[in-house]
Amino acid sequence: MSYLAYADRVGLRHLVMEDAAEIVALNRESLDLHGPWLPGRPVITHEEFESYLGRFEGGAHEGFVICRLDTGGIAGRINVNNIIRGTHQAGTVGYAAYASTTGRGYMTEGLRLLVAYAFEELGLHRLEANIQPDNTASLNVAKRAGFQREGFSPNFQLINGAWRDHERWAVTVEMV
Ligand SMILES: CC(C)(COP(=O)(O)OP(=O)(O)OC[C@H]1O[C@@H](n2cnc3c(N)ncnc32)[C@H](O)[C@@H]1OP(=O)(O)O)[C@@H](O)C(=O)NCCC(=O)NCCS
Repeated sequence: MSYLAYADRVGLRHLVMEDAAEIVALNRESLDLHGPWLPGRPVITHEEFESYLGRFEGGAHEGFVICRLDTGGIAGRINVNNIIRGTHQAGTVGYAAYASTTGRGYMTEGLRLLVAYAFEELGLHRLEANIQPDNTASLNVAKRAGFQREGFSPNFQLINGAWRDHERWAVTVEMV
């Protein structure tokens, strides 16, 4: 599979229907890792994956996977959601690693690739990331990809049954 961009250990490509079985298996192994932090219901069946993939038709959302160059296996996913064009050219990133490969630096490499791709190829000017204050792993990855903290929004998003406070992080073209 060819990549949109690649770094030392990972490549970036769009999520495709052929990823269904792998993503479903990875999501199933990662329910505990994702549960406290990700909104929405986990995608753990083929039918749910098909429906999930549908959200990337139409240009408002772009779905990517981070793949290991050594095995080709998926090490993470990154979405650019709620893309606004016009005088904003902005989107919000959502990302997740998987239980069997988390903590090895793949997401850091992948998010850096995604930021460059979003600015250079998608023509975006700003990426936002909304992160719960105690999600240290996510804060670390965002910082390493160049995001800076802009503020704090109480009760920002419904996750795992409650409205969760979030820190508001962002990176613009001028900052990288
Ligand atoms: C947030 C999340 C994607 C971060 O993934 P991750 O696996 O920790 O990120 P990385 O792959 O970049 O790994 C980073 C760690 O690997 C370590 N690491 C190990 N080997 C490494 C190597 N060869 N190169 C670089 N880093 C390496 C780093 O030191 C780093 O640890 P640190 O953050 O404690 O300093 C993951 O925790 C996750 O999926 N969480 C649940 C979903 C979620 O929270 N999404 C974000 C919502 S805002």
